Order: sequence, then C-alpha cells, then structure tokens
Amino acid sequence: MSASLEELQALERDHVVPAYARMPVAFVRGEGTRLWDAGGTEYLDFQTGLAVTSLGHSHPAVVAAIQKQAARLVHVGNLFYSEPGMRLARRLSESSLGGKVHFANSGTEANEAALKLARKAKQGGNVVSVHRAFHGRTYGSLSATPQEAKQAPFAPLVPGFFAVAPTAEAVAGAVDDNTAAVILEPVQGESGVWVLDDELLRAARAACDEHGATLIYDEVQCGLGRTGTLWAYEDAGVVPDLMTSAKALGGGLPIGALICGPRLADVFEPGDHGSTFAGGPVTCAAANAVLDVVTDPALLARVRELGARLADALSLLPGVAEVRGRGLMLACDLQDGGAPELVRRALLEQRLVLNATGPATVRFLPPLTVSESEVDDALSRFASLLS
Ligand SMILES: Cc1ncc(COP(=O)(O)O)c(C=O)c1O
Repeated sequence: MSASLEELQALERDHVVPAYARMPVAFVRGEGTRLWDAGGTEYLDFQTGLAVTSLGHSHPAVVAAIQKQAARLVHVGNLFYSEPGMRLARRLSESSLGGKVHFANSGTEANEAALKLARKAKQGGNVVSVHRAFHGRTYGSLSATPQEAKQAPFAPLVPGFFAVAPTAEAVAGAVDDNTAAVILEPVQGESGVWVLDDELLRAARAACDEHGATLIYDEVQCGLGRTGTLWAYEDAGVVPDLMTSAKALGGGLPIGALICGPRLADVFEPGDHGSTFAGGPVTCAAANAVLDVVTDPALLARVRELGARLADALSLLPGVAEVRGRGLMLACDLQDGGAPELVRRALLEQRLVLNATGPATVRFLPPLTVSESEVDDALSRFASLLS
C-alpha cells in the first residue's frame, strides 16, 4: 500500500524541515527512463534525480550488485579492508589521474576532502573559484560557491575563498604564490550548463603550475559519461591534480570520491580526514557495476550522438533562445523566461520530468541509456508546451 500524495504532504508539513520545494508528485517505481506514481501514471524522466540515475532507474546490473553485496556484508568501517572499495579505487584512478582515491558520501564531501588536501599540501593558502560555480552546501564547498542567496544566510564563511569571472585572464590573474587551489567544474551544471572554454582550463593549469597551486576539477555532475567522454576534462585534455566525483557514481546510492594525481596521492595521512560510511561495501559494489556500464565506448558514443540530436532539435523550437551543453548535459534558455512554470507544466501536463536552473533556463539530464525514441518523445512533449 502506498500513501497518497495528500498524506505525504501532511507528513511533510508537520514533520519535515521545509528545506525543499517539492513538486506535487510522489513516485513509487522506476525502470530505465520511466517513473510511475502511486496511481500508475507513467512519466518520462529527463532529470534523473539531478544527474544521479545515469543508467536509468533500477538498472539490472546495479540492482544485482547491491542485492548480492547487501546479503553478504553491508558495513565494516574503514579500520578494516573490504574488497569493493579497494577495487573501485583502482578503477577510478586508472581511468583518470593515475594516483590514489579517498572516498566520501556525497559531492560536497568529496570537495571538502579536495579542499582540505590542497590546503595541507600548500600549508595554507587561498582557494579560487569562478562565478556561476556550484560545489556544494557544506562550509568549504559553500565558500567556493559564489552565490549570494546560498552563502549570505550562513556567514561567516571559511576565510581565504574568493571568486573571479570564468575567463582565462581572470583566473590567471587571481593565482599567486599564496594560492592553495583553483576549483572548477569543466562543465558548470547547477547554474545552467556552461561549458568552460579550453583556454580557461589551460590558463588555470599554467597558473597552478607556476605558483605551486592545486588544480581541482569538480566532476560531481559532469563526469562519468554525462558529456560523452568518461570524464569531462578529456575533451580539453587539460589534466587536473585532483578530481571529485559523486552523483552518478553509486547508481542512486550515496557515494563520493576524491581522485588524486600521483603528486598529491600521499598528502593525507591516517587521522587527517575520514568518514564513517565512506567507501562502504554496498555503495562501492554499486559503483563498480556503474563503471562496468559507463566505460563502454559504444555507450559514450551514443551519449554524444543522442545529445547532438536533442540539442539540435531543442534549438529549432519556438521560444528557445539558446541551447548549451555537451553530450546529455544540456540546457536551453527561453526567450520569454517562465522556466519554473514550464517545468511544472511539463511534469503535470506532459508527464515529462525536467528541472529549471533559473528563471529562463531548463536543464535536460536524461539517463545515458535513453533511447532515440525516448529523446524524440521528450522533445515532442516539450514542444507541445512551447507551441
Ligand atoms: C558540480 C557539483 N558539485 C558538487 C555538488 C554537491 O553534491 P552533493 O549534493 O552530493 O553534495 C553538486 C550538486 O549538485 C554539483 O552539481
């Protein structure tokens, strides 16, 4: 028996801290790109819990890995060894920076680890981020997230953080000998999918090299196949010192990872940093199953192909001013604004799950396993709202 939407809304009103603005829908089941509510109504999911269920809902390989590991061992803690995390660390580092991995439980925690490690490596120093960035809600990550509305209620923030324009000149000019780190999302997600240009990444790399600072990429949202390469930075070929991953990594379970290049792989020593649940066997077993699927070159090629199909078709729709993004991480700006209302109508009238990142911006984050016909179906549902 599922509780009705009204029952859930009453429970929330009386017992849940009102930190989220929820849509009036309760989902009870998911499969691939589809979701169902308690009444059996089917929805097309082009939001994926904000880039989390990248293999679609209840991917059989992820479900099997979770069930098998949960029946064997759920938790043991980081004072002992367990196999899934050790194997996952090897796979993450070998697929990217070639050093070592430190696990966390979320994107913001992975970024906290990166920031702490960078400051320890430099014995202090400032952290530079760029406008439109989003790195998370805990104090370090929030301090690197230059958004007034998110920061102001929680001042004072961590000292030594400042943000500059997302341009090569601004980033290069902001780095000096007192800089511990530059943190960048190669493709900025939360602010409406802005691809940072290659020149900016190269300038950040050169400035960090010149001043002994750490270049951190936050691939929490744009990594793991979302842009059509396993890691978003591969497109520009500018390699960071540290990289963070989370969101899609656990196939829906909470996990984050800090991946360190060889130079910084041994900066953390026992006692420096840690978390009770991080690197647990079940989440890591799920993540190993996710990696089995997202590392398939055929899947990544499909992401690029279907992303281009979706982007091209969106740009032809009436009222669409601009389409941005890469692979299946896309956003479109509406000429006349109204994105939050349009997203609400998409859900309630067209059964299409989307997300508005601002007054005029709609973000598209379908599963990487989406089919061509599902892309076309979503496009026609979205188009019917615009016409
Ligand atoms: C680029 C980026 N970094 C960090 C985070 C924070 O991740 P989490 O919500 O798992 O803490 C997000 C979440 O949206 C994100 O998009």
